[in-house]
Amino acid sequence: MEIKRERWSSRPAFIMAAIGSAVGLGNLWRFPYVAYENGGGAFLIPYFIAMLTAGIPMMILEYGLGHIMQGSAPAAASRVDRRLEWVGWWALLVGTMIVLYYAAVMAWCWVYTWQSLKALVGGIVGSAASVIPWGDSPETVSGFFFGKVLHLSSGPSELGGLSWPVVIGLVLSWLAVFLIIHRGVKRVGRVVLITVPLPIILIIILMIRGMTLPGSIEGLKYYLTPDFSKLKDPSVWLAAYSQIFFSLSLGFGILIAYASYLPKTTDVNNSAFITVLANCGTSFLAGFAVFSTLGYLAGALNVPVSEVVKSGPTLAFVTYPTAISKMPLPALFGVIFFITLLTLGIDSAFSIVEGVVGGIWDKWKINRTKLTAGFCLIGLFVGLIYCTHAGLYWLDIVDHWMNNFGLAAVGLLECIMIGYFAKPSEFRRYVNSVSEIRIGWWWDAMIRYVTPAILLYSLFMGYVQELRVPYEGYDGWALKVGGWHLVIALIIVAVLLSLSRGREVE
Ligand code: PHE
Repeated sequence: MEIKRERWSSRPAFIMAAIGSAVGLGNLWRFPYVAYENGGGAFLIPYFIAMLTAGIPMMILEYGLGHIMQGSAPAAASRVDRRLEWVGWWALLVGTMIVLYYAAVMAWCWVYTWQSLKALVGGIVGSAASVIPWGDSPETVSGFFFGKVLHLSSGPSELGGLSWPVVIGLVLSWLAVFLIIHRGVKRVGRVVLITVPLPIILIIILMIRGMTLPGSIEGLKYYLTPDFSKLKDPSVWLAAYSQIFFSLSLGFGILIAYASYLPKTTDVNNSAFITVLANCGTSFLAGFAVFSTLGYLAGALNVPVSEVVKSGPTLAFVTYPTAISKMPLPALFGVIFFITLLTLGIDSAFSIVEGVVGGIWDKWKINRTKLTAGFCLIGLFVGLIYCTHAGLYWLDIVDHWMNNFGLAAVGLLECIMIGYFAKPSEFRRYVNSVSEIRIGWWWDAMIRYVTPAILLYSLFMGYVQELRVPYEGYDGWALKVGGWHLVIALIIVAVLLSLSRGREVE
């Protein structure tokens, strides 16, 4: 019996879900820092060009592919050419590796949300627990994060035990993902009506709060003062392209899966433009929230802004909480900030799981609820590595590999698939036939030449850099484990795939 394909309840539900996937932790803790590092206001030029030459074309590619083929990444790839199915699986594998640690970062957010809530409620009822527990100096806040929450060990080889609050947070993250997606995309469509607008509203609140604090202008000057000399540096351009890929959730097969639940008559091009602009706009806005607050913090600590500017976990779990502790109503802003992070993260996390579950379902039609439960359980157990005392090191190493190599490699393969195995002009004719906005020949040129050339260059440069300096000075063996486990997983997938193909033929 043919099982009917699931459908979004409406086009806005699909667009909201896609924006939910794109707008994530990366917008708040990565974009502002990358922009600052790479020329401030001047960075907006390469960023905008990356958006036009890679972001929008690849978004149209992923949407169009899912839409035409009515299948998630592996199914869609194999319908382009049977020999390419593994490209789709690779995309899902990279996504899986990422969601394992993304869920752990969300676990930290749960811990902080809980702590802030406790202080907030304590303040209201007037109990002793009314102060935020991380203190108000950079030292105590660092001590709280690295010591009390993570119990960070001295290196990747020293796993130590588990940090239990983080384990509880991880369970909550996976439970939330399971509850939202196990019934299929209709429920996803409803959940994103909250998880997309809420963090954006909260970011605006944080921005207004930040900009009304003394010293905020200094921070904004840092963020936006253009340094045009940076535009000559190729690494600035690479940073712009990798930020576009990660931030738009491209190269994970997620958007292919999401678009495959669209009816065949829905617009592709316009949806792609809306998603990209909404995501990049949110990033830009988040920069104001973060940098105004950092300007204030620098003033309060009496140090230059450059000393407080950080990216990644340190920004969200040390620097920003320090700034919060110095504001009036710290517990309230703690709750707002960490709920922003949780709601930013959750729809990105479940979009990856949806991509993988959709891919497996397309091939084997396993019961969806059981499949999702299985995936979440395995995710939880494997993710425990990130709850150990060496968790942060492993998270950093795996993140480094996935972002620098995993994504770009999948993006490159997708361009080759459509650019050379399919006919880009026919693909374009198809997406134009269903869309309000028509794309021209420039799209073919991007997919065939420009985007793959840039991705190839960035992979090459990344590799050279890797050989030159070991990332963050980690031991060689740890870096090897971080990189090779992806290759090994890929080989296992290829073997399973060929075994199951043998079965199908019988
Ligand atoms: N786009 C998300 C962010 O900016 C990250 C992400 C990548 C989410 C891949 C899902 C898949 O945080």
